[in-house]
Amino acid sequence: MQVLSVTSELYPLIKTGGLADVTGALPEALKPHGITMKTLVPGYPAVMNVLEKAETIKSFANLFGGAAKLLSGKAKGLDVFVLDAPHLYNRVGNPYLGGDGKDWPDNPQRFAALSQVAALLARGECGNYKADVLHAHDWQAALAPVYLHYSGGPKTILTVHNIAFQGQFSPAIFSQLGLPPQAFNVNALEFYGNVGFLKGGLALANAITTVSPTYAQEICTSEYGMGLEGLLRARRNVLFGFVNGIDADVWNPQTDKALPTNYTVKNLEARAANKRAIEKSFKLEPGDGIIHGVVSRLTWQKGMDIFAGLLDWLVGSGARLALIGTGESAIEQAVMAAAWRHPGRIGVVAAYDENLSHLVQGGCDTMLVPSRFEPCGLTQLYGLRYGCVPIVARTGGLADTIIDANDAGLSAGVATGLQFTPVDQPSLQNVLSRAAKLFGNKPQWQNMQKRGMASDVSWDHSAKAYAELYKTV
Ligand code: ADP
Ligand code: GLC
Repeated sequence: MQVLSVTSELYPLIKTGGLADVTGALPEALKPHGITMKTLVPGYPAVMNVLEKAETIKSFANLFGGAAKLLSGKAKGLDVFVLDAPHLYNRVGNPYLGGDGKDWPDNPQRFAALSQVAALLARGECGNYKADVLHAHDWQAALAPVYLHYSGGPKTILTVHNIAFQGQFSPAIFSQLGLPPQAFNVNALEFYGNVGFLKGGLALANAITTVSPTYAQEICTSEYGMGLEGLLRARRNVLFGFVNGIDADVWNPQTDKALPTNYTVKNLEARAANKRAIEKSFKLEPGDGIIHGVVSRLTWQKGMDIFAGLLDWLVGSGARLALIGTGESAIEQAVMAAAWRHPGRIGVVAAYDENLSHLVQGGCDTMLVPSRFEPCGLTQLYGLRYGCVPIVARTGGLADTIIDANDAGLSAGVATGLQFTPVDQPSLQNVLSRAAKLFGNKPQWQNMQKRGMASDVSWDHSAKAYAELYKTV
């Protein structure tokens, strides 16, 4: 079965977050289930530079204001279709933001173009390829199911990785989309007078998935649905939650080249050398005490504003912190100021660094994820695999993937991390104190690390679920 995946990010070509990890891992994970997945991505410089054996399968004289070509080829081992449209994508850096940190003003055109070409490709109008199912990811690809709904073609699945990003634009954009007038309707694209890309996809895709069972339920409520809960409730019979897996080759402590010392569950003591490397990289005082790790976008979603307010207290409690992340400037400034106040205790790298993110997993004692909401979350899964004990908010995929070290979890011998709720300062403080206490009991802590490392974070289960859903639609 041929499935066309359509996405604005694809690891290892272009990544701003977990979406790329997931779209990058899915093709390989689906192979054993008889699914051949090819991926359509925009031709950003980071993609064009690594594209090999490129063949033009369709040319467009004018695609949203400029000439474009659809290429088929290979990139870093992945089978890709690349939409080479320089007027839309030939911009270095973040795929969504200009140098001023603001959304590119033509984002609606940029991602409508991707979706429109995806629909043509899936229908068999670009060379020999034809898809049995089109799988769109997030608002950037969400118009593909809309185009196919009106033009006819293969069935469609839309995965919501984060409902906070909806792609809502002024109604003026509608006339440029090349959709029939009836698409600007409350049962399709129209969302309170605006054009909603995600809204349209959710209304018209044949099935909807999101990235954990808990988040699938949460987005049907007004607390988490961000205005789309009514539509999602109406489509509940075709809404599924499949928890993300991880790429076990990219994230493997036994072979990871970003770690000074590789290790397995059998020689966990070897992690100590990586902890020394963390101390060096983050300029922390040496010592055996707990080092918390954070690898995160520094945003409200991730609860990083609350955490930033606790840093003086955290240092007072005797803990150290290694944090890598970028995001909202107020939070970046708050964590950097705390690092200045507490040299040797708090180390901050305000950058995006793939290798350093692996070192944090392989050398820190905990992986802190205090999100207000979290569709799935991948850093806690990497934490499990690396013996970096996750401390997570009890929400979304975090609730589904970590078993709390409460009395019951510990005495039953199943705990893999710590959970807390609600996401506020007192309960975050409380969970960090619990972690410090557990860390003091070495055998108990190591058991938790070992259980985490043994827990199933593979794609096996969810790849099967996706494959079944492709067949069902
Ligand atoms: P989200 O996609 O919401 O940001 P996820 O936990 O699903 O959250 O995925 C985040 C991904 O981005 C992970 O692969 C994580 O390691 C990576 N990441 C986040 N911040 C950084 C950073 N500053 N440097 C390197 N990798 C990062
Ligand atoms: C989004 C979500 C994150 C999820 C990722 C991959 O970025 O915020 O929770 O893990 O997508 O599905």
